[in-house]
Amino acid sequence: MAINPKQRVALHAANLVEQNMVVGLGTGSTANFFIEALAKRCKAEKLNIQTVSSSAISAVKAREAGLPVVSIADLDSLDIYVDGADEVTPDLTLLKGRGQDLVNEKLLASAADQFFVLVDESKLVEHIGDNFPIPVEVMPQAWRLVLTQLKHQGGEGQLRLNASGDNVAVTASGSLVLDMQFKDMDSLELTMILDTIPGIVEHGIFSDIASAIFIGGESEVEEHWR
Ligand code: 5RP
Repeated sequence: MAINPKQRVALHAANLVEQNMVVGLGTGSTANFFIEALAKRCKAEKLNIQTVSSSAISAVKAREAGLPVVSIADLDSLDIYVDGADEVTPDLTLLKGRGQDLVNEKLLASAADQFFVLVDESKLVEHIGDNFPIPVEVMPQAWRLVLTQLKHQGGEGQLRLNASGDNVAVTASGSLVLDMQFKDMDSLELTMILDTIPGIVEHGIFSDIASAIFIGGESEVEEHWR
């Protein structure tokens, strides 16, 4: 049966999971393919693992597929975290957060011994922000003050709306999201700014966190290790 690049890269990552590992599950269509492939492999090879999910939706999918899911709050450590990304640059900086579970995604990605990022070629960019705005998760009461500060730094943006567009989007952590654009700003410089403004809970630039990027193609998977 023909499989698409996202399925191919998901299968590749599922084959790297080992007995007794604690595996972090990302969120999105590629992460869903990974959950499916991992569940199949665990059944076929009687692998005994635990999983932890970055979102309620991935937890539901994992349980439905027969994977045991533990709560983030019960974990001291995890072996690998596997997730997709919206953009990847040549130096393995990522943009994530089109979904609304940025806080858990970055928490699990940075706490894991290894973080594997699964993408297809459409996600490869020269600079962060080339294809998507940068999600900045803010405390609800802080969004106007944060937006003003980001505008002073050369940013433009607005609050993200929910899927039906009739209200603001609220994240799993109860925060709001500003989708921001910055012209000609280096992602490292931007990370430093976003990391220091009070009221910002988290943002979508993941620098120096990915252990490896796996790029799914039509017939193979390319690996780029840090
Ligand atoms: C969610 C994410 C996703 O990993 C990212 O949006 C990629 O999604 P997909 O695998 O559906 O292309 O960062 O917050």
